[in-house]
Amino acid sequence: MRLDKYLSERTGLTRSESRKAITKGRVVVDGVVCRKADTQVAETAAVAVDGTPLAGSYQKYVYIMLNKPEGVVSASRDKRDTTVVDLVAADYPRRALFPAGRLDKTSTGFVLLTDDGGLAHDLLAPAHHVDKVYQVTLDTPLTEAMQTGFAAGVTLADGQQMAPAEVEPLGEDPCTVQVTLHQGVYHQIKRMFGVYGAGVNALHRCAIGGVALDPALAPGEWRKLTVEELHQLQQR
Ligand code: URA
Repeated sequence: MRLDKYLSERTGLTRSESRKAITKGRVVVDGVVCRKADTQVAETAAVAVDGTPLAGSYQKYVYIMLNKPEGVVSASRDKRDTTVVDLVAADYPRRALFPAGRLDKTSTGFVLLTDDGGLAHDLLAPAHHVDKVYQVTLDTPLTEAMQTGFAAGVTLADGQQMAPAEVEPLGEDPCTVQVTLHQGVYHQIKRMFGVYGAGVNALHRCAIGGVALDPALAPGEWRKLTVEELHQLQQR
């Protein structure tokens, strides 16, 4: 079917409004901006207008930004606890979703849920060094030793050498800091601060690979990634 016809059937725009939207570059088909109204679109195409995927356009994979609440585990299934996948499962009964990267049960913030194993692998591969940004509340003020140690690469208590990371104060409170990691190791931030005798009272992931957690999402809320956010992650 022609793209302008496809659009007007699914959006309620007239054919000429659809053509205008297309020529202005507002329409993305399978991840690529398409400016030609007569482009043939397959039934299976993923079409988005202004970054919002069209309802009813087939999506090969699902990509969800979730604001994980405290007490929920980063897993697909768990015998005892609510999982991040449980929070969205009612809307995706036939999708095998999983979290691309984990947060501790006590941590909050951005978890990416998807069924795209390729993207998850790329985001998690140690060699790709995808940045993750966290807001952390410590039980003691940030010190210069922590900052220089993080920048050089902390050696954990068990001898594991961490890659260089950044830690900087966030505002007035000396116990609230922003940490940027370029790798993902189990309990990494807690263990890195532990080397300096500091405990972590709260840990919130704010961004993954340059994509920020949407501040409109309350704990437990989620939405699909926009086309731009997905492209940003795919380019990592
Ligand atoms: N580092 C931690 O210690 N915990 C998390 O949840 C994420 C990073």
